[in-house]
Amino acid sequence: MTFPVPLPASLQVVAANGARIPVMGLGTWQSTHDEGVRAVRAALDAGYRHIDTAARYENEQAVGQALAACGVPRDEVFVTTKVWHTELRAPDFRRAAEASVARLGLDHVDLLLVHWPNPDVPLDETIGALCDAQRRGLTRFIGVSNFPVALLDRAVALSSLPLVANQCEYHPYLDQTKLLAACSRHGMALISHSPLGSGKLLADPVIAEIARQHDKKPAQIILRWLIQQTGVAVIPKSSNPVRIGENIAIFDFELDAASMARISALARADGRVSKPAWHPEWDVPETSLRAAKP
Ligand code: A2P
Repeated sequence: MTFPVPLPASLQVVAANGARIPVMGLGTWQSTHDEGVRAVRAALDAGYRHIDTAARYENEQAVGQALAACGVPRDEVFVTTKVWHTELRAPDFRRAAEASVARLGLDHVDLLLVHWPNPDVPLDETIGALCDAQRRGLTRFIGVSNFPVALLDRAVALSSLPLVANQCEYHPYLDQTKLLAACSRHGMALISHSPLGSGKLLADPVIAEIARQHDKKPAQIILRWLIQQTGVAVIPKSSNPVRIGENIAIFDFELDAASMARISALARADGRVSKPAWHPEWDVPETSLRAAKP
C-alpha cells in the first residue's frame, strides 16, 4: 500500500496475535563487535525500530551497547533474540533466555524465538519453557524460527500462549506459499530471514530490469516484493550504513501485480541458501499465486 505522504518506516507494522512487529528490521548475523554496534546505530539513525539478534550470533552485547547509546526510547524498538537448538531442554532454555536478556543489557526482549527445532528434545518441553519465559516477563512475545508447516502446527497446538511469528528463509528464489498460509491460519507473521538470498538475488536479471523501471536498487525491489505480501516482515542484514539506509527506503513506491507475479515466478527448486546440517525436513515448495496486500 502507498500513501500520498508515505508513513514513516517505523510505523509500518505487521499485526500478529497482539504483537505489532515493524515490517522492516535489521538482521545482524555476522555483524559482531564494533561492526555490530555501528550497524545497529546506523539502522536506528535511519529509522529502523526492529533489531534481530540471537545468542548464536555472538553480538548481543554489541546490539545492547548500540541500543543503550542511541537515544531512542526502549519502548520504541522491537528487539528479537533466539535460543539455540542445543538449549531446548527446559532448564537450559531458561538459562539461555536469561543470559541473552542480560547480555543485551535489557530487562526483557520484545520477541523470543526458538532458533531451530531439535528432534532430540520433546517439543512440548521446549514450548512450555518458551511460554514460561513470557510469563516471567523475559519477553513480551514468543515465536519460533525455521519451523516447517507440520512442526509449526504442533508448536501452536502445544503452546498455552499465542505464538506471534515464524522466522524463516523467504525470498523470490524460495517459494513459501505453504508456510505463508500456515502462518496466516495461525494469525502469525512470517519474518523473512535472508531476504536477499544472502546476496545471491542481487544479480538476477529480472530483478535488475524491474529495479531500472522503478529507479530503485535490486535490494529495494526484493524487499518491497516481500513486504507487499500480507503478514510478511523482513530483516535484511547489512553492516554498511549506505545499504542499511537503502534497504529501508522502500515505502515510497509500489510494485504492480504484473511485477509481483514476475518476481514470484523466479522461485526455483534449489533456491534455498540456508542449509545447516541440523535443518528439519522442509516443506516441498509449491508455486502458486501469493496474496498481495490490497
Ligand atoms: P553488507 O553487510 O556488506 O551490506 P541477507 O539479508 O539476505 O542474508 O543478505 C545479506 C547480504 O547482502 C550481505 O552480504 C550484505 O552485505 C548484502 N546486502 C545487504 N543489503 C544490501 C544492498 N542494499 N545492496 C547490496 N548488498 C546488500
